[in-house]
Amino acid sequence: MLGALAGATLLPALALPGLSHAAAADAAEPLKEIARRKGLRFGTAVGGGRNQFGDAAYRALVERECGIIVAENEMKWQGLEPARDAYRFGPADAMLAWARDKGMAMRGHNLFWQAEKWLPAWVAREDFGADPKRGVEALMRKHVKTVCEHFGSALDSWDVVNEAVDPADGKLRQNALTRPLGAIEQIDLAFRLAHEYAPHAQLVYNDYMRGDAGSARHRAGVLALLAELKKRGTPVDALGLQSHIGSWDDIDGGKNQGTSGRQRDLAEWRRFLDEVTGMGYGLLITEFDVNDRRLPADIARRDAGVAAAARDYLDLTLSYPGLRDFLLWGMSDNISWLQTWDEAPRKDKLPMRPCPYDAQLRAKPLREAIAAAMRGMPARQA
Ligand code: G3I
Repeated sequence: MLGALAGATLLPALALPGLSHAAAADAAEPLKEIARRKGLRFGTAVGGGRNQFGDAAYRALVERECGIIVAENEMKWQGLEPARDAYRFGPADAMLAWARDKGMAMRGHNLFWQAEKWLPAWVAREDFGADPKRGVEALMRKHVKTVCEHFGSALDSWDVVNEAVDPADGKLRQNALTRPLGAIEQIDLAFRLAHEYAPHAQLVYNDYMRGDAGSARHRAGVLALLAELKKRGTPVDALGLQSHIGSWDDIDGGKNQGTSGRQRDLAEWRRFLDEVTGMGYGLLITEFDVNDRRLPADIARRDAGVAAAARDYLDLTLSYPGLRDFLLWGMSDNISWLQTWDEAPRKDKLPMRPCPYDAQLRAKPLREAIAAAMRGMPARQA
């Protein structure tokens, strides 16, 4: 989405003249209400780290703006079972109790993360015995059964499989579970187990493909995976669009610099979403934020560029009325994962500004872009 950022112009200030973004947001209709009127759930990830869940002011912001949350890390396999059989449900349970108390829904993220580095380290060391295929099946069943039975019907949507497609070549990633079973067989089994132990839940395949040229193989790989799962009758309900948008397209080897354009990227994205929905899959936005690493240091220009990129992306993506959930990956800049993700930092090393609120929890132009996109989107299907 580099093109969208490079072409950004200053957005008008929030609708209420004379008020700061913060004051206007306080006075404004909560994002969850704007969403709800159209049949959409709006929310965010909440993490235990970096002063989020433990911070009363941040919690109050989430309570005001959000109708649904997801745990940023606490429901991952590594978080729930850091050592074999040593379950640790406390942090996730605390978030769920808070969500229920405040009338917020919660979704589950995630049962299986396909990149080997994000599986619990003990899984890679596991001895699956003389019949490794059966050993892996038994471990997967135990994991899904334990986790899904623990949370029961409290979670109505699960990211069952996360990031199975390697963006470099579009092929399925291999890990300690796929090697004995086969990658597609392991993914198929994951969804069948989730369907068995969480039959009430929406079952989601979640990934971070984008519309730019650097993501072409990723998109193709995801489409091939979804087509194969459809052919097998695998119980997958929807594709989770992570939606980490913004300046990413120079990270894939720098090959695509200068070739990306806002309209071309959006057209590719529309083609992709049409193919996904054409196969009968639902959509949801699971992890939205805007990487600003190629935008100028000047805060007003940067925030305007972030808001403009978001508006373009959301106007298109929210135009699909089957998309029923829209979650951000953090509400305020200071707690964003991008601040500590060091593979491609801003060259000037300034803190990123990828979220709708700043570090002091003051609303930014991105908040208004999100509100405007939701006000303009069609009502969701019944
Ligand atoms: O909690 C420990 C802390 O005790 C320890 O001192 C510290 C030292 O590194 O690490 C802390 O854990 C970190 C955890 O975040 C909590 O902050 C892990 O190292 C770190 O790897 C972990 O990163 C998370 C990452 O997923 C990997 O699980 C990010 O917060 C989280 O935002 C990110 O989220 C992913 C989605 O799940 C999938 N899609 C992409 C998205 C962004 O990468």
